[in-house]
Amino acid sequence: MTLNDMMETKPLAKEPAIDVAGLTITARKEDGGSVPLVKDISFACRAGEVTALIGESGSGKSLTAAALLGVLDAAVYDVCTQDLAIARYRATTYDAEALSPIRGRKVGYIVQDPGSALDPTMKIGDQLAELFMIHRGMNHSAARVEVNRLLDLVRIPNAAARYDDYPHAFSGGMKQRVIIAGAVALSPEVLIADEPTTALDVTVQAEILALIDDLRTTYGMSVLLITHDLGVVYQVADHVIVMYAGRIVEKGPVETICTTPAHPYTAGLLASVPDLSRSGAAIAAIPGNPPKPGQDQGCAFSPRCVRAQAVCTTDRPHLLQRAQSIAACHFPVTSGGHLG
Ligand SMILES: Nc1ncnc2c1ncn2[C@@H]1O[C@H](COP(=O)(O)OP(=O)(O)OP(=O)(O)O)[C@@H](O)[C@H]1O
Ligand SMILES: [Mg+2]
Repeated sequence: MTLNDMMETKPLAKEPAIDVAGLTITARKEDGGSVPLVKDISFACRAGEVTALIGESGSGKSLTAAALLGVLDAAVYDVCTQDLAIARYRATTYDAEALSPIRGRKVGYIVQDPGSALDPTMKIGDQLAELFMIHRGMNHSAARVEVNRLLDLVRIPNAAARYDDYPHAFSGGMKQRVIIAGAVALSPEVLIADEPTTALDVTVQAEILALIDDLRTTYGMSVLLITHDLGVVYQVADHVIVMYAGRIVEKGPVETICTTPAHPYTAGLLASVPDLSRSGAAIAAIPGNPPKPGQDQGCAFSPRCVRAQAVCTTDRPHLLQRAQSIAACHFPVTSGGHLG
């Protein structure tokens, strides 16, 4: 076995699962102009951990995920990175085509709106079997054995008997398990899950999160979990990245982010999560809305921020190391979050 073979088969524990520097995504407009949507973000996801990417609707979470997988429509979006490492692929220049061989094989992807992820006219088992036949060169009967193992893995009761069912025979939670099965079929090192529990009721949500956490611990998978639900984050994440209007405003360990956040936006998100609030404390959603893409000035959060002063409306704060987290704020929250 050559050193290269060993590198291929043995994950290097220390190397981050995802390490991206200077990711910028711009949409081209028909009038020849462009809109910046994700602006120079840098982050790393440690191997074997769950990193949560959070932020309100429109903050750029799904675009970020799609860029990491090389699936953004090149006719619409321009993507740049200074450095991108994912599942041990590494490049200094962004190259969507070079990412295609790692998609599915090394990086599993649960897309945000999985409506079209399953073909309603095809048996569940056959849809999964195709992955093994195409990527592993298996014949149908060998693939069928793998599919049954996979359906078992994602805890579909009586898995072998469900092979021949069509998607309509599955509940929402069971369909999501099948989609997860598809994402992890080829034993990827990294799983990017974009809002995998959003459409599900609370009990099923908890089961799906437990399943994802199980895949992480049992198979050493690294997970980038995208959600706007801080309750979910608190349950499963190790690290948290907070996005606002296309930028990272804070990142740090889950304990810090959920107890002593430095950024008023993170603190505001926390205050609006019932389960994380002090009993009896009022649940306050953050008033106002994020700016439209391309229309922010200074700190994009300043129009909604109770701590904002004049400088916040003109000068964009840079990410700086705070006591526990890294945050971009001129007037960070210093004495604990609402749980502190
Ligand atoms: N082609 C485009 N032209 C202009 N704006 C776009 C284009 N594509 C996406 N956007 C905008 O980019 C922003 C980020 O989109 P993205 O889907 O990444 O948000 P998100 O954080 O995943 O939100 P959600 O929580 O709703 O899934 C949104 O405001 C979206 O409207
Ligand atoms: Mg999204």
